[in-house]
Amino acid sequence: MPHIVVIGGSNREASQSHRIAEVIAARLEPQGATVDLLSLRDVDIPMWDEEKWSSDKPADSAWNTVWAPVSERLKKADGLVVVTPEWHGMASPMLKNLLCCCDQRELAFKPAYLVAVSAGAGGAYPIAELRMTGGKNNYAHWLPDHLIIRQAADFRPGDPENKAPDWLVNRLDHGLKILCAYAEAAKPIRSEVVDLDILKNGM
Ligand SMILES: Cc1cc2nc3c(=O)[nH]c(=O)nc-3n(C[C@H](O)[C@H](O)[C@H](O)COP(=O)(O)O)c2cc1C
Repeated sequence: MPHIVVIGGSNREASQSHRIAEVIAARLEPQGATVDLLSLRDVDIPMWDEEKWSSDKPADSAWNTVWAPVSERLKKADGLVVVTPEWHGMASPMLKNLLCCCDQRELAFKPAYLVAVSAGAGGAYPIAELRMTGGKNNYAHWLPDHLIIRQAADFRPGDPENKAPDWLVNRLDHGLKILCAYAEAAKPIRSEVVDLDILKNGM
């Protein structure tokens, strides 16, 4: 049974990415996964600064009190769903910051399913951005398929207000099924094959 962490990549209180991350978490459980919803709406990860790498940071440093528990949650993951809003054609800054903070193998060689959320007709740019720059040193393994949810407010599977087409919901479920299969299959690759002491940072 894979353990999947669903990352909601927006800090907005009324975030559609958060709501859709909840929908995804609920749809993962029937696939046999255990799920942890890590929403950047609910956890205020500090912006990366030099103290993160300091060996004598104070006990009350946010790197100890806020980041360390997030890091532990991510380390438990066998796979991830990364839900990013499109903000000005980009992935959200707090999501990029989280990826920047993952320097302790939290994501390394773990399959990650990208889901972009747009209020309108966007969503392609943050996928392209994350595929290109989101995984060099943290070694997140972006799956070859991703999902773009446009007109996000209409995406409410199982709700009478839903206006999302069946094909899109079916595609999400199939993407989650693929993710869970990859998450199981990748376990021995991490434990028996990959040596990050050799790789260190990505090239
Ligand atoms: C600062 C900001 C910039 C945005 N820029 C875009 C954009 O470039 N393209 C787009 O499709 N939607 C854009 N949106 C709308 C988001 O797609 C919309 O808020 C959507 O619900 C996902 O973000 P959320 O999870 O924060 O709700 C923007 C929203 C914000 C708050």
